[in-house]
Amino acid sequence: MRMRDPPGTFLPRNASARLRFSPGAEGKMAAPMSEGPPALEPGAAPYGNFPNYSRFHPPEGRVSLLPGGLLQSLFPAVARPLLGLDVGCNSGELSVALYRHLLGLQESKGCLDQPVAGKDLNLLCCDIDPVLIERAQQCSPFPASISFANLDIMDSSAREPILRSYLGRFGRSTFDIGFCMSVTMWIHLNHGDSGLMEFLSFLSSLCKYLLIEPQPWKCYRAAARRLRKLGRNDFDHFRSLAINGDMVERITQILMKDCAMELVCCFGSTSWDRSLLLFKSNGSNHEGGESSEQEQ
Ligand SMILES: C[S@@+](CC[C@H](N)C(=O)[O-])C[C@H]1O[C@@H](n2cnc3c(N)ncnc32)[C@H](O)[C@@H]1O
Repeated sequence: MRMRDPPGTFLPRNASARLRFSPGAEGKMAAPMSEGPPALEPGAAPYGNFPNYSRFHPPEGRVSLLPGGLLQSLFPAVARPLLGLDVGCNSGELSVALYRHLLGLQESKGCLDQPVAGKDLNLLCCDIDPVLIERAQQCSPFPASISFANLDIMDSSAREPILRSYLGRFGRSTFDIGFCMSVTMWIHLNHGDSGLMEFLSFLSSLCKYLLIEPQPWKCYRAAARRLRKLGRNDFDHFRSLAINGDMVERITQILMKDCAMELVCCFGSTSWDRSLLLFKSNGSNHEGGESSEQEQ
């Protein structure tokens, strides 16, 4: 399935070569080299769990790249509630912005608005940092539709009951869409190549669609450099990462070759020089999302 008329760059199934040369992915904007505010010690945020992350990497720069009516395009015939998983949600600002944007809700009108095109969206948003999750829970304007959970997504024994319990509330075993925004580098630095592969494989098995914003390699170098400046050792895995270089290209290849996903669209590049990519799973274990589904 292809979405109709989005403003992003559409790419064919085997499009990673073109992706490298698409204007959005090649955009040379004045992107910060780091993944955190200069004043914050990276040792204090070893997972990218920066407090106030959204102040220096505002959600609007990402959500504004997504076309209005995206959910309607992806799930034209689905009448049941759509389920989304936001991995590494920090304190929830991007999760809430995504929710509003995808449903066409105006911020000023809050939760009284009718969702666009009759779509009902529920989000499970998780983060490894309990303090960030507590703040997200306290500030959420949509507590009935957006759930926040403290979870290390790499801990399979912890994630399994949380995800199963959430999905079970809707009689489901998979999510319609996953969001992985500025998270891959932290998984990669903390869990190595095999951890990144396992993470991507897990997400592709769990989510029909995956919206992903990988950090470019220069951010890895900057994160390691900051750590060294503080007199600390590199991240455990930094020097041994064989998956390196063009991270958009590498992650695209992993998702397409190893995870049975296809690249649907590149929505362009943020002011931080990060590409926003939408993948779709070809796996058969998804309760899917397309014309055959009229589920309630
Ligand atoms: C750089 S922030 C991105 C926040 C948000 N997704 C955004 O783009 O605005 C990365 C987040 O991923 C979280 N994170 C890193 N490793 C994680 C893990 N193993 N499980 C869950 N969350 C994780 C961090 O705590 C942090 O809040």
